[in-house]
Formats: sequence, C-alpha cells, structure tokens
Amino acid sequence: MTKIGFIGTGKIGQTIAFNTLMGGYVDEAVLYDIIPDLPEKFEHELRHALASRRLKTEVLGTNSLDDVTSCDVVVVTAGKPRKPGMDRRDLFVENAKIIASLAKELPKRNDAIYVMVSNPVDMMASIFMKVSGKYTISTGDQVETMRMRSFIAKKLKVPVNYVNGYVGGEHGDDAVILWSTVTVKDQLVGDKVDKEEVERYVKSIPGDIIKAMGGTTWGPGTIIEEIIRSIVLNENKVMSIAFPHYFEDEIVHISEPVVVGRKIGPSLESLLDEKDRWHLISATKDFYSFYKESLNRIQILA
Ligand SMILES: NC(=O)c1ccc[n+]([C@@H]2O[C@H](COP(=O)([O-])OP(=O)(O)OC[C@H]3O[C@@H](n4cnc5c(N)ncnc54)[C@H](O)[C@@H]3O)[C@@H](O)[C@H]2O)c1
Repeated sequence: MTKIGFIGTGKIGQTIAFNTLMGGYVDEAVLYDIIPDLPEKFEHELRHALASRRLKTEVLGTNSLDDVTSCDVVVVTAGKPRKPGMDRRDLFVENAKIIASLAKELPKRNDAIYVMVSNPVDMMASIFMKVSGKYTISTGDQVETMRMRSFIAKKLKVPVNYVNGYVGGEHGDDAVILWSTVTVKDQLVGDKVDKEEVERYVKSIPGDIIKAMGGTTWGPGTIIEEIIRSIVLNENKVMSIAFPHYFEDEIVHISEPVVVGRKIGPSLESLLDEKDRWHLISATKDFYSFYKESLNRIQILA
C-alpha cells in the first residue's frame, strides 16, 4: 500500500503527479494546493486519465492540509517559480517561508520521506529538514545529469543509453559535471566533446525553456518521477540527487551519485577522481556561505 502526497499542483507539480500516477505503482494520492478548486479539478483530470489506463489509484484533490495524512512519500513543489532572467537563489526568501510553514505542519500527519522540488531546491530541502527534523532529499542534479547525457548523445550522434555519468554539486548555475564519471559506450568521454560547450548547455537550457515555454515541466517531471519510483519500488538506482550532508553547524544538501531506494545511500563519492571531489567540496562551501547568510535574513524558526 503506497500513498503519495503532492504539495503544490502548479506546472511542475501536475507533471510529476501525472507521470507518477500513470506509472501504476501508487495505491493512493493526495493533491494539495492553496488555490481554490485547482487540486479538486486536477483530481478529476487524473481520474479520467486513470480510467483510460484502467488504473485503480485513489486520488483526492484538496485545499486542506488535514487531508494530507499517512503518506509514504511527500513531494513538495509549492512556491514561486523563476521568471526569465532570475536566478534560482533569488527565490530563497519567498519560498523559504512557504517551505518552513509546510515543514511545521506536514510531519504532524505524515511519517514520510520528503522530496523537495521547489527552488532553490537544495536549500529548500535543508530548510525543510532543519525545521521538521524529518529526512528530506532534494531532486538536485538528476535533472542536470539527464540534460548533460542528452546533449552529449546528440553531439556525438549516439543513442542516449550509450552515455552515462553524473552532474553534482548544487542544482543550478553552480552545478558541476563530474567528468570522471562521464562515459560513452563504457569509455571515458575524454576530449570527444567540447566540455565547456556541454557545461554551457546544461546551465543555460532551463532559462531558455522558461523564456519560451514559461517553465520547465516535461524533463524534470519525468526525471523526478524516476526518483519517486526508485524510492517507492526500492529499485536502488544510482542517481545524482541531493541528500543531507553535515557541514560545520548545518545540514546541507549537495548532489552526488548515490543509491536511491527506500533508503538513500551509499554514495559513490569515493569513485570520483580528486578534481571532481574538490568541486563537490567547493560547492558545499559555497552553498553553506549563501545559505547561512540567507537564513539570517529570515526568521524561519520563529
Ligand atoms: N527542482 C527542479 O528541477 C524544478 C523544476 C521545475 C520547477 N521547479 C520549482 O518548482 C516550484 C514550482 O514551479 P511551478 O512551475 O510548478 O510553479 P507554479 O506557479 O506553476 O506552481 C506553484 C504552485 O505552488 C502553489 N503554492 C504556493 N504556496 C503554497 C503552499 N503554501 N501550499 C501549497 N501550494 C502552494 C501555488 O498555488 C501554485 O499552484 C518553483 O520553485 C520552481 O522553481 C523545480
């Protein structure tokens, strides 16, 4: 019996919920948003889609957090998205308040694994965990990982399943391609690709999509469903998601390749070369200094 809560039924929340429910491995789902009528009408949409697929998942759309109970996994997409030209970190103050208030309420009703999607996603996961005390992961750089693989496959004109490897660090402009993991047909990619061009693509394409389409949905919506699936079905796939790291006096969420199942871990960090490991440490320090400074600007624990 698997129950999943979807907090936020905007663009990305809808895409993730749709993909997840169409997977046919969820018994019950609850959709919550603060916009009147939105989750309730989305419930109808999903019921129609489920009927077509002959899936018997129970769905409830609601504006009441009291209905979000007994979930095994809670996926949080609530909050403001970036507008063209904005950095994800610009959303920190506004979204941190939303995430902190949800972190106070949701654990009262759910003993779940919490999956953060709202941006800046890794910092929002750290805030959720700080306030709730509950294990929280961020979808992190699995999205960048797939952007990187798809670009290399297109450039080298090979099927995308020939390309492996991961992006790590913080989701967004500070993400780093972990080149010591990147292979094509099981051979290190080396100088077969222009590394700067790959990096530029991975960092710029989400902004370009936002400009043209108003937000990123189909890519992350599919990739994040895979993370949920790996947890729920205990598939133990290796993915580059951000999980809690203890750094100085805080918990910080940084992505690196890690086994994702009902439990998160072990990490594959020890398989990275020194340069990639140095990048991860540097990303952790940079995350920490921005995060600490931003926490001082808001009173999330008040
Ligand atoms: N991690 C990723 O890879 C990734 C990908 C896409 C979007 N995002 C992020 O996800 C978030 C949502 O993006 P979107 O495009 O769906 O935006 P959106 O505006 O379409 O949807 C956001 C939804 O959150 C709801 N909301 C706001 N406060 C809430 C609260 N307290 N409780 C419940 N719901 C609340 C809004 O009513 C809205 O329906 C943004 O922060 C965006 O940057 C992350």
